[in-house]
Formats: sequence, C-alpha cells, structure tokens
Amino acid sequence: MTPTGAAHDSVAVADGAERRWAIIVMLIIAMLLAMMIFTGLHWASMPPSRVETIDPRKLHISGEFVENNLGTTLDADGKVMVRLIAQQYSFEPQCLVVPADMPVTFRATSTDVIHGFVVDKTNANVMLIPGFIATFTTRFDKAGERLMPCHEYCGTGHEAMWGRVQVLPAEEFLAKARRGERMSCVPR
Ligand code: CUA
Repeated sequence: MTPTGAAHDSVAVADGAERRWAIIVMLIIAMLLAMMIFTGLHWASMPPSRVETIDPRKLHISGEFVENNLGTTLDADGKVMVRLIAQQYSFEPQCLVVPADMPVTFRATSTDVIHGFVVDKTNANVMLIPGFIATFTTRFDKAGERLMPCHEYCGTGHEAMWGRVQVLPAEEFLAKARRGERMSCVPR
C-alpha cells in the first residue's frame, strides 16, 4: 500500500540523472582544459607570422608614421597602401579614401594604449598595439561610406573614437591618384 517502491524508483532516477550530468560536465571541463593546453602550446610555438616592432615614442618624429606620410598612397607598382595611427581618442587620418575591388594594404599602429580598428561590414579588424605594426590586406567590394570605430576599450573617450572610410569606385580612385591629388576625403 505504501508508495515505497515509487519513492525508491524516483531516488534511483534522480541519482542516475545526476551521475550522467556529472559525467557530461567532467567531459566538458576535460575538453576545455585540453583546448587550453593545446592552444597554449601550439600558439606559443607558432607566433603570428609577422611581428614588426616600432618605437612608439618616435612615431611623430621620423619613419613611416610621420604625419605627412599618413593616409592612402598608390605606389608605382599599383599597390594601394594605407597608413594610420590610433591615439586617445582619434584616428589619424580621421577619414580614409580607398578604392573598391582592389587589394588595399593597411599598416597601422598606436601611439599610446591598445586600440581596436574595424571597418564595418568588412573583415578589416585588428588590434593596434603600441610598439607593434599591424599589417593586413583586404578588399572592399562596394563603393560607399563605412564607419571605422575603435572597438577596444581605451579610456574614457573610447566611445567617441571613430573615423570614416570612403570607398571610391576603382576608376575614380585611380583617376584621382594619377592626377597626383591628395587622397583626402571629400564631402559626398
Ligand atoms: Cu581607442 Cu577605444
């Protein structure tokens, strides 16, 4: 008459469920630990392919990041190169001009703290670390204007730190560059 049998069953069911969860959780923890150990050893033995350093105290005085060398250039061999610096709380230049549908190489660094650099709706996304030069090549598929916010918390002015990227149709960009015009943003 007494429901001892039922009570006994429910205890066994609860025990079983708890044991299964314990095993699953232990497996998850073991997998996470294995991932941490693997990536730790793997990355430590394989640093990023390109490590270029620069003295952040001398950026403004000499070298490729002096003020009149910042912005977009079209090299003699047709390579489009953009140089910029990030500092609390702005990018220099504030607005970049780049061509659509052509490879564009960026070289950037920071003068003070770690900043982030991202161009919306593209895969251009790096961290700008003082002392290191971030380099990557990307391609913008559509002409138009993009936002370029800092995406790494860099201080009280972080949320006001952003710039713009004007993507011009390739012919328009090349015509401007060939005429020897300064590659600066124009109101559109
Ligand atoms: Cu610079 Cu956030």
